[in-house]
Amino acid sequence: MTITITPLDDSFAVQVSGIQPSGAVRAEDIAAMRKALTAHGVVVIRGQKFDDREHIEFSRHFGELEIHTQRAWLLPDMPEILALNNRGERGTKPIMNGGSYWHSDVSYKAMPPMGSLLHAIEIPPEGGDTLYSNMCEAYDALDDETKTLIDGRRAIHSYAHRYQAQAAGDPERPQLTAEQLAEIPAVGHPMVRTHPETGRKALFVNEGFTTGIEGMDDAEARALLDRLFAHCVDPRFVYRHRWQVDDLVFWDNRMTQHSATSFDQRFKRNMHRTTVAGDVPA
Ligand code: SIN
Repeated sequence: MTITITPLDDSFAVQVSGIQPSGAVRAEDIAAMRKALTAHGVVVIRGQKFDDREHIEFSRHFGELEIHTQRAWLLPDMPEILALNNRGERGTKPIMNGGSYWHSDVSYKAMPPMGSLLHAIEIPPEGGDTLYSNMCEAYDALDDETKTLIDGRRAIHSYAHRYQAQAAGDPERPQLTAEQLAEIPAVGHPMVRTHPETGRKALFVNEGFTTGIEGMDDAEARALLDRLFAHCVDPRFVYRHRWQVDDLVFWDNRMTQHSATSFDQRFKRNMHRTTVAGDVPA
């Protein structure tokens, strides 16, 4: 089968056809998929049937898989799968508001993941879309003065503050243990990172996890970050993914950020995510 790449909704995201996450996958198809991912940032495979084991195996073609800090959301027999399920399943805790803020996955770790693969298992009749923003395009569109201000600077990323804010609106959300908190101390990353595979520059701050700027006082940092957060989500950089059951969306965390959107919680939304390890942002 030949791989074909089609733009989605006149946006930066693309649909890839001719590749199946189930069964044996040819090395040249994985290479084509990776090329599409790093060129476009968001790649969608649509209308394929595959199970959790096949999801994991397919994801492993792109690197080692990470295990999320909050173990309560991991499938007990397959911890590579983060179950973003508002009802919980097979002993996982329900997650009501997972990812419903702009973020790049796990940017609060010293080596944030290169990519994430999200499989739609069950979706509400409306809402629950995911928005993706292209951080290379956002960087390119900054004025020269702002580029000079942020190039070479480092921002602070932290999970704990975001987690506690989410927990305040979700009584079911389990506390992070002292051991889990010790896994995720705040870290500094360049505000502008260079994509290791394409050499493109991308803005690397996000509203979800970026809490300050190294060497800048809090008020000045807050004002600059708020301005950048607003810029990052300008509609000209954003693709809205309207999920269909069995969609697999693969995004590059090094050059995009995303936010889930709200939906009526009387309906079930169950999404399974694998997370592919990355490197130290530079
Ligand atoms: C995520 O933030 O990884 C999940 C986004 C979603 O559930 O739409």
